[in-house]
Amino acid sequence: MKKILFIGAEAMPFAATGGLGDVLGSLPAEIAKAGGEDVDVRVMLPLYSAVSQEWRAQMKHECDYQMSLSWRMVYCGVESLVKDGVTYYFIDNEYYFNREALYGHFDDGERFAFFSKAAIDVLSKLDFYPDVIHAHDWQAAMSVVYLDRKYRRIRGYENIKTVFTIHNIEYQGKYDFLILGDVFELKNDSKYIVEYDGCINLMKGAIACANKVTTVSPRYAEEIKGEEHSHGLSQILNDNAFKLCGILNGIDYDYYNPQTDKTISKTYTWRSLKNKAVNKAAFQQEVGLPQRDDVPLISVISRLASHKGLDLITDMIYDLLSTRDVQFVVLGKGDVKYENFFRELEQRFPDKVRAMLIYDRDLSKRVYAASDIFLMPSKSEPCGLSQMIASRYGVIPVTRETGGLYDSIKGYWEKDGKMLGNGFTFANYSAAELADRACAAIDLWNNTEKRNKLIGRIMRTDFSWTASAKKYIEMYESL
Ligand code: GLC
Repeated sequence: MKKILFIGAEAMPFAATGGLGDVLGSLPAEIAKAGGEDVDVRVMLPLYSAVSQEWRAQMKHECDYQMSLSWRMVYCGVESLVKDGVTYYFIDNEYYFNREALYGHFDDGERFAFFSKAAIDVLSKLDFYPDVIHAHDWQAAMSVVYLDRKYRRIRGYENIKTVFTIHNIEYQGKYDFLILGDVFELKNDSKYIVEYDGCINLMKGAIACANKVTTVSPRYAEEIKGEEHSHGLSQILNDNAFKLCGILNGIDYDYYNPQTDKTISKTYTWRSLKNKAVNKAAFQQEVGLPQRDDVPLISVISRLASHKGLDLITDMIYDLLSTRDVQFVVLGKGDVKYENFFRELEQRFPDKVRAMLIYDRDLSKRVYAASDIFLMPSKSEPCGLSQMIASRYGVIPVTRETGGLYDSIKGYWEKDGKMLGNGFTFANYSAAELADRACAAIDLWNNTEKRNKLIGRIMRTDFSWTASAKKYIEMYESL
């Protein structure tokens, strides 16, 4: 039996802020399902105050003790619960994790150094020695480094293999050498491992130590070897290219399922698109837009950050709304400049635009169910999940050919009377190209027969975890 331990900073439904939480909330259970009796899958997370009472009530207290971290002793508790065939461990320390937000604190480096060390240290207390440790993003990067530098010679730890997955290379965990000892508990003889570009770089340390480095799409695995997408890490990635591969994410097909989703007005499949239209009418009523079924509803559901391609949208949307008969909704919060832009846009086009500047998962499902066309013109996108969720809900994606968007959405095309592709795509980071493809999507949508045919194709595209869970298991085995 293979024992796999995931280590990461967030997982649905316990605590999540973005795509990492989606993946750590669904991939472990998919691997447990695909591997059956042959795998034992466990996950290590921080016990944030955001984890609800409902979950806490189901937890079992595993152990607690004082763990050494540099020159001090710190409390470390472990709680556990089993869900969907996966054991979840929660590392408890109120000083570090009893705070309102998951991240964004002045001492995040120290908080995740603690978490990463505890994740390795507790294994001997739990008497659980995995075959593979699979750590995710910078917050868990040090677990890979600590295993190598501090635990390898302890019985049980000798043969553990390690995988490090990059969900977003933009966030690396960079710190001044001043805190190498006090915060990261590393001596000078380990400095070279985390050293990169004149500072401590936690992600670099994990890339250097891990047996395998993966990222969340094949295209992104290629892109981050080049300077344009690597945020400075291309050198270390090229040095370690032999370890690097990309495996495309999937989405949780039970949670995102228009056939059973209780949060939407009427459930539907690709065979009952009439019922999808009921969702559009209900949503238009909910937000006070004219209840029209003859205009396409275009949506953007995204963190309002520049790398999501918001500058392209703000550049082209005014013209589009002035010249075409469409409705437009944006759901998400982020940079104030974009929030203000969309607020003003709604005032300028009160009959066409709604700006919902919040993060709300249930509302997002109602928007997917109601929408016809989905814009996602990211500047860079490791994988992207929204284009897959949109597809699952029968929304025509308009995406830029980068990272996981390139791997998941192929441009619509007709050849010898056959329809190919599952969306509209463009290559350059250009508002004119986005506008052109958005207009092509609108034109196709206005042709009912073609629209239904393309939406059927899109909804039948497989974005489940099935294929990728198998690839992960093969990779673990290859180690
Ligand atoms: C990050 C990336 C996103 C990816 C997600 C899950 O949020 O930005 O592209 O889909 O991680 O891997």
